[in-house]
Amino acid sequence: MSVKAELYIDGKWVGSDRQLVPVVNPYTGETIGQQVLATPADVEQALQSAFEAKKQIAQIPGFERAKILKHAARNLEAEKERFAGLISMELGKPLKNTLDEVSRSIETLELSGEEAKRLHGETIYGDASPRGTDAMAVTFRVPVGVVAAITPFNAPLNLICHKIGPAFAAGNSVILKPAPQTPFIAVELLKLLLKSGFPEKGINMVLGGAEIGQQIVKDDRVNVVSFTGGVMAGRNICETAGMKKVLLELGGNAATIVHEDADLQYAARLCAATGFSNSGQSCISVQRIYVHHSVAERFTEYLRKEVEQLKIGNPLSEDTDVGCMVDERAAIRVMDWIEEAIESGAELIIGGKRSGATVEPTILFNPPRDVKVVCEEVFGPVVSIIPYQTIERAIEEANRSLFGLQAGIFTNRIDLAYKVARQLEVGGVVINGTSNFRLDHWPYGGVKHSGIGREGPRYAIEEMTETKMIVLKMPTPI
Ligand code: SIN
Repeated sequence: MSVKAELYIDGKWVGSDRQLVPVVNPYTGETIGQQVLATPADVEQALQSAFEAKKQIAQIPGFERAKILKHAARNLEAEKERFAGLISMELGKPLKNTLDEVSRSIETLELSGEEAKRLHGETIYGDASPRGTDAMAVTFRVPVGVVAAITPFNAPLNLICHKIGPAFAAGNSVILKPAPQTPFIAVELLKLLLKSGFPEKGINMVLGGAEIGQQIVKDDRVNVVSFTGGVMAGRNICETAGMKKVLLELGGNAATIVHEDADLQYAARLCAATGFSNSGQSCISVQRIYVHHSVAERFTEYLRKEVEQLKIGNPLSEDTDVGCMVDERAAIRVMDWIEEAIESGAELIIGGKRSGATVEPTILFNPPRDVKVVCEEVFGPVVSIIPYQTIERAIEEANRSLFGLQAGIFTNRIDLAYKVARQLEVGGVVINGTSNFRLDHWPYGGVKHSGIGREGPRYAIEEMTETKMIVLKMPTPI
């Protein structure tokens, strides 16, 4: 890894004469390198380069685009440990989780490559209308042109792959702005893509903060903005984007319901594994656990025991389950929210302490419904257990949220599972699992403030292409 994360503009790495900002390992506090901050002129050049490249990218045949993406997947496989270690160092995410993230990124690239060969349209006969008996239409999926990918820190490799993979599979050029906290992983991925045959000008990358993102989003040379991040930023993007399509994967305060007939130990094991991985920094991390009142005490005890066994420590150690948060500021904010809940009447079951950027996995019992750990997105290692009397009440409380990304329900009753799944206002429901389960080929996205559109290569490709219709008209009815 180079110690300077540079910009990639119009086929060249750009780094001299720019402001440098240190990139810090949040666990040790040590500086691991410097990143170059893009100027408005850099962004302008990157936008123009992406715009000029779009015709060239659209002309690359599907089998070639597939080959490049699959080659990238194989190259990433060969460097799995190096990439995982780099994410752990930049983000504080434990190696267990980052190895998993790299495996998922390999799949995402592979799946995008497969989808590059399947950009199908349909044939529509005209005879549904009396005016169309002599006509038929054929539709094609055509690339939109330029896709802007603005990505977050929490899954800094896979969430870039989820944007670049489908965008390129669909024949678009890309301008990427990765999260300021994790520039090195973006640089290393870009180098790997170029080594795998990605066209030199098919991607531009600029580094920096919100102003850079704003300049990209506003620009009319961009056709689709694909953003993953916070709600405020998402709302801002909608307001700035003007007439372009916007895909938003925003936050959540995911609910998981544990009904009275559930296998409580199994549910507790999964809630612990998926409520605290990456210190809860996932949009679908288990946050609110609604538990039937008759089993709430037993479930809480099982969950406490599971959490007690989680090993907190250095993200680079192979046996660490919980590393640190992205920075100390985030950890302090989470502690404030925990304190607010306790002061308002929540019972602290375990955790509730901080050291630097590390927050202990924390379980709160029965917090008031209006505290932040319940109604906002914690994005930290905190879960709240909330007892309920009836399943209708659990559904109502789970839906009492601005968000609606994913949810889970543990029960052995198929009728109940189905009813709950139908009534929860979210993009996806996991039966006998928690909210935090995603396979990369599935449609992923939310309702309400959780976003607009769906990810998952096949679904993202639909969003990143337009339907083009060609009509065939005959002198006589066909
Ligand atoms: C996210 O935070 O939305 C990403 C979750 C995942 O891909 O598992």
